Amino acid sequence: MKETSVSRETTQSRNLYEKAKKVMPGGVTANIKYFSPYPIVMKKGAGSKLYDVDGNEYIDYLLCYGALMTGHGHPRVIEKVTEQLHDAGTPIFGTPHELEVTMAEKLVSLYKSIDTVRYTNSGMEATLLAMRIAAAYTGKNRLAKCEGHYHGGYSQVLYSVNPEQNEGGPEEKPEAVPDSSGMSSEEKPLILPFNNAGAAEYLLRANASTISAVILEPVQGGFIPADPGFLQMLRRVTKELGIVLIFDEVKTGFRLGLGGAQEEYGITPDLTTLGKVLGGGFPVGAVGGSKDIMEVSSPDGGKDILAGNSSEEGKALFHSGTYNGHPTVLAAGLETIALLEEPGALKGIFQKTMALRKGIESLYSEAGIPVQTIGKGSIFNFLFTKSPIHSHRDLKRVNMDFRKQIDCKLLELGIYTKPLNRYSMSIAHTEEDIERTLQAHKQALADI
Ligand SMILES: Cc1ncc(COP(=O)(O)O)c(C=O)c1O
Repeated sequence: MKETSVSRETTQSRNLYEKAKKVMPGGVTANIKYFSPYPIVMKKGAGSKLYDVDGNEYIDYLLCYGALMTGHGHPRVIEKVTEQLHDAGTPIFGTPHELEVTMAEKLVSLYKSIDTVRYTNSGMEATLLAMRIAAAYTGKNRLAKCEGHYHGGYSQVLYSVNPEQNEGGPEEKPEAVPDSSGMSSEEKPLILPFNNAGAAEYLLRANASTISAVILEPVQGGFIPADPGFLQMLRRVTKELGIVLIFDEVKTGFRLGLGGAQEEYGITPDLTTLGKVLGGGFPVGAVGGSKDIMEVSSPDGGKDILAGNSSEEGKALFHSGTYNGHPTVLAAGLETIALLEEPGALKGIFQKTMALRKGIESLYSEAGIPVQTIGKGSIFNFLFTKSPIHSHRDLKRVNMDFRKQIDCKLLELGIYTKPLNRYSMSIAHTEEDIERTLQAHKQALADI
């Protein structure tokens, strides 16, 4: 593999992208993976590094959008997966098996809100299931979500994830703005202004009779923390109004602490959705929550337990998936959690994250450029503004052109994240990586 160089050859990436465009719309499998002029095509990963098809090395801060908290191909994770395949003699049984119980017990022990667990194959399926459980439990079916929060790509939640400044309507009463063409014409969710407790409480009270659940990312986009008072209000008001509170911890699960954002904030939601880190790099999702609510998804619809509180007459909640609770995936996830549980593992990641944050802040500040890093635990973002950032609207007011230039320059200098994306850290990142990253930032700034 070539050492990091200033001017990089990415001809093979461009050639592959040209080929991909002929057989895949836009040349990508997810629009989020595209960036101009063409995305870098990767071929190998090892620890904190990615290597592209031209042989260039990158320190990776995307980490598959946060999923790889032990880095690329941790030997212990690879070994467990290999062992699991070998011992089981098959990738999947298609029947109940022991690892799904072992993982459920682990999640019950780590997450305050979780008494029982259901598995899915992605974070998106987990939020979908959580909402259905909430609807079945409450007998209502309109969702409330926060502006700027992402919960997957289906029509019920794909509103106001990234509205433009002129699209969202009044700040205290945001409008539901679709984020995609081709959405189904179901009822739009109620959009709450994140971190505006007064306005959000007003909207919830006004719509309480139809709202089944409030779903939110306790840390928006993984890096804009909720004000504790906002979460406290949601917990208090949803309980009072008979609304299920769902923390979508697909990004924050394990990354803020093994018990997620709910542990950090000391607030217990009714349902929690997990994904990303849980699968150790393989596709996974899970919903967990209090026993009485989760029980509506059991084969008998939980009718005994809920005593008449289940959804429609005699109908159990439908939840299925050929690959749910995949043993190979759960083996990877359990080993990932075991690695994160080792003494000092999380603390080490948090310290490295803080060192990088501080380095970035002082580097740009010394050059007279207003900058802040923002985030919690092992995820952060850096923004070229001193204005406080509490919401999507605050974020939209920040000029991202300079940041984009820096990110593109950094790619040439061997620092990988998709331009404008947050940074996620892993146990594989070293002090040397951080030093190299800061040097690259310095160089990028000088070049620009
Ligand atoms: C908070 C949150 N919820 C749900 C999802 C969807 O997860 P997946 O991409 O595994 O479907 C994501 C993905 O980034 C996410 O960040």
